This record gives sequence, structure tokens and C-alpha cells, in this order.
Amino acid sequence: MQYAPRAHKACRMTSNALQSVPISGPPVSRWFGFFSEFRRDSLGFLLCCHAYGDIVKLPMGRIAGLLLREPDPAMYLLNHPADVRHVLVANQDNYTKAPVPPVESCIFGQGVLHAEGAAHHHQRRLFLPFFHGDHVNSYAGLIVEKAAALADSWQKGRTIDIGQEMTQLTLSIIWRLLFGQDIGPEAVEITQAITTGQHLIKKQYDSLSARILPLWIPTADHREFSHGHRRMNAMIRQFIQDRRANQQHRHDLLSLLLAATDGEGQPLGDDYIRNELVTFLLAGHETTASALTWTWLLLSQSPMVRARLADELATVVGDRLPTAADIPRLRYTKMMWDETLRLYPPAWLLHTRVSRLEDRLPSGVRLPPGARLFLSPWSLHRDPRWFPDPNRFDPDRFSEDAAMHRPAFCYIPFGGGARRCLGESFAEMEGLLIVATVASRVGLRRMDTQPILPNPLMTLRPSKAIQMLVEPVASPENYPTAG
Ligand code: HEM
Repeated sequence: MQYAPRAHKACRMTSNALQSVPISGPPVSRWFGFFSEFRRDSLGFLLCCHAYGDIVKLPMGRIAGLLLREPDPAMYLLNHPADVRHVLVANQDNYTKAPVPPVESCIFGQGVLHAEGAAHHHQRRLFLPFFHGDHVNSYAGLIVEKAAALADSWQKGRTIDIGQEMTQLTLSIIWRLLFGQDIGPEAVEITQAITTGQHLIKKQYDSLSARILPLWIPTADHREFSHGHRRMNAMIRQFIQDRRANQQHRHDLLSLLLAATDGEGQPLGDDYIRNELVTFLLAGHETTASALTWTWLLLSQSPMVRARLADELATVVGDRLPTAADIPRLRYTKMMWDETLRLYPPAWLLHTRVSRLEDRLPSGVRLPPGARLFLSPWSLHRDPRWFPDPNRFDPDRFSEDAAMHRPAFCYIPFGGGARRCLGESFAEMEGLLIVATVASRVGLRRMDTQPILPNPLMTLRPSKAIQMLVEPVASPENYPTAG
């Protein structure tokens, strides 16, 4: 599927005498900077920025200058993998995450996604064993069981909203991982609260006026957000209190947090535990649901890919349910998953990074202290230098040989360095097992031919619901010859 950005203003080179290499950027509004163009079409804007080179200056405009008390505030978009690697890995200690909009802080607090410095190191050390090796594999049975039950509940000949189905599935899985029990009717309320929160966060990223409007001012958006936020907090606090009261230990994240201590050796308080649980709840299901939704859409548009997938599943899994032990042999499934994350990276833009001290990037650009950096998986993954014909869905790009010929850090769906996604192994196992389980049980066909555009909220969601017809699995002879 082609992603066609809307028309953006024509190229005009600007340069900054402070930099050792000139930096160019698109023409933007003197007062509002790049925000108006970015708000209109963030994804298209990022792709148009390829025309300005490996580092692109995005002036923030005079209003931001007045608010921030800076004469020429700007963000810099990094388009070269070597510069991205430098910021995320080689000189990562020189970069922190920029302050996030008030709604985002209100939802996540100082959970591991937002904490910095020693607190962040401590949190990562606590969670790493939970998200590695055998412990991750121990969830395979649960994932497959839930995916099979869902696919079996779809009646053949009916249409389903595949985005909604994938969200409910991944939510039910992360809920078990967090609280060790099945989610109940609260799932609907939680999904609604998350969607409202996502829209408000995006609004605050896009507009300085939305960002500075205090949350206690009762606009319709604020009221809806506060209602959902209060309900979600109350539910999570109840879980914490109940578990503390009955002192029952389970193999879930809540028990891990209740048994853990902070940097000073003290037990973790309820606020700390809430922040971590909300962080994992949100980071751990929306992202995977988005990747799976795009997977089904891309598969429904690519009979050849479907045929090769069916072939692999018939050989590796056959009539039984897949297991964690099958994953190393699901090579084509993995290539297809990687290619989906290339085209539609759920985390389309990493958190803005800010330099502590002056730094020189491998591209030769000298960054002043306090420089704000955009690193965008969306933009890197659609760069034709590393991915020729970048809009084409082609899992063969991820064959071992093809991948070896690309530079490191041109593909970063899970970020990199000390802040690389903690749930990467879990997400990959979950994604592959769900695809293998569902594709072995049903066929999914999109009836509508209207293009589906990506909507860049906190995760990259489809711009509208994707309705799919549930069919019996096609037998391999009904597929076109895989080539
Ligand atoms: C396809 C699915 C997923 C994608 C594409 C994804 C992507 C990412 C990315 C790009 C980051 C780094 C953000 C940055 O540097 O600004 C991140 C961080 C994180 N992710 Fe994921 N994620 C996925 C699934 C998950 C799952 C399943 C979990 C947990 C169960 C999870 C938990 C986290 C956490 C806790 C962080 C913060 C790490 C830190 O800052 O130290 N993610 N994720």
C-alpha cells in the first residue's frame, strides 16, 4: 500500500552558522514554526524532510521562543543511522528524554518508560529477568490458548473489526502478565480510557496552547480524560490493596513489584507500583495490537506472502497448536513480522532526546547543549537508501543476506541502547505465535478496497476500523504459486 503524504511547502535551505556542517530544513511559519505542518500531516512531513539531508532543522517559531525564552528554538530530525546509533548507544549518557506533555506525565508518572538516571537503571534491573529467556517463554501456552479461543469464536462468513479484536486479545494477555488473572468486563472501559488519553497526548504534542492549558479547566477533552483516568487508577489501586491484604504471591508483575525494594532498600509505595503497572499495561498491548492489525491488513493484500506463510505453517506447525519451541523455525513468519514493523512501526517517533553537553555527531554536525532531537523509526524505515521502493511490502528484505547489507540502526522498531524496549522478546513471541495460531485456523479477507492510512497517535493506528471477513483457511492448492 502506498503512503502518499499531502503536499508540503517547497524546499528552502536554511543554515546555521554555529554548526560545523550547514543544516537545512523546510520553510515553516515564522510564528508557529514547524508545528502547523507537523500537526496537519506528521507522517508526510517527516518523509518530506528526507529532501533536506541527514540532519534537518525544524524551527519551533517565535511563540515557542517567547514561551521557552530562547531566541531561535528548534528541533533536529536525525535521518542517518550512524547519528541515530551515536545518540542511542555510543554517547547515550549525553542524552535524556525531553519533558513530556502534562497528560502523558499524569498517565505514566515516573514509570520505567519516563524515569531517568539512577532511578531508571534500578527499574530496568528489576524488570530485565522478568522479560528474558525462559520466563518469557513460559507465557507461550497462554498466548496460543487465547489466540486459538478468539479465532474459534469468529463465525465463518461474519465480518470482524480486526483492530478491536487484536486490542482485546493483547489486552487480555498483558492483564494476565500484570495481575495473574483474566480481565473482565472492565476491558471496554480501559480501552476507551486509553484511546481518550492517546488523543489528548497527541493534541498536546502537536500544539503548545493545548499543552499549557491546565487539566483542571473543564474542556470536553479534559473531562473525558479525567473520568477515564480516575476509573483506571481506582481499578489498579484496588488490585494493589487486595494483593497486599491477602499476601498471596503469584507469578505476575504485581507480585514482583510488591516483593521489590527501591534504591534505598525500602519497599515500593503504591504510587510507584501504580506507575509501573500503567506503563506496562499501555506499552505492552497497544503496540503489539497495532503491529498485528497491520499484519492482517498487509497479508490480506498480498496473496504471495499469504501462500508462503501458509506453506511454512503447514510444514512447521501442521494440525497442532504452535509452541515457543517452533519459533526458531518460523523464519518466514518472522521476516513478515519484521517487514510489518518496518512499514508500520507502532512507535513511529521515539521520545524527544535532549543533549546535556555539546556533541559532535558522526555526520560532522556539532550540536549545542540542550539540542532537541527527533528520532523516527517511521522516517528511517522508509528511507530509499536502505529500503529501495520503501512503500512496497516485501518480507524478503529481512532474509539474513539482505539484512546483512544494511547499516545498523536504519531499522529501529524497538529503539536502542539503554532504553531499548524491555518487552521486545515478549512482543516478538506474542506476535509470531498469534499470527501462527490465527492463520492456521481462519482466513481473513478485507472486503473494502478503500485505502487505510496510518494515524500517528502514541502508536501508529489505522485511521479507521478495518473490517475483515472470516473464512475457512484456504488449502495450499488454492493459493497462487509462491515465488
Ligand atoms: C511490537 C510491539 C512493541 C514495539 C514496537 C515497542 C517499541 C518500543 C520502543 C521504540 C521503545 C523505546 C522508546 C524510546 O526510546 O523513546 C519501547 C520502550 C519500552 N517498551 Fe516497548 N514496544 C513493543 C512492545 C512492548 C511490550 C509487549 C512491552 C511490555 C510487556 C513493552 C514495554 C516497554 C517498556 C517498559 C519500555 C521502556 C524501556 C525504557 O525506557 O527503559 N513494549 N518500546
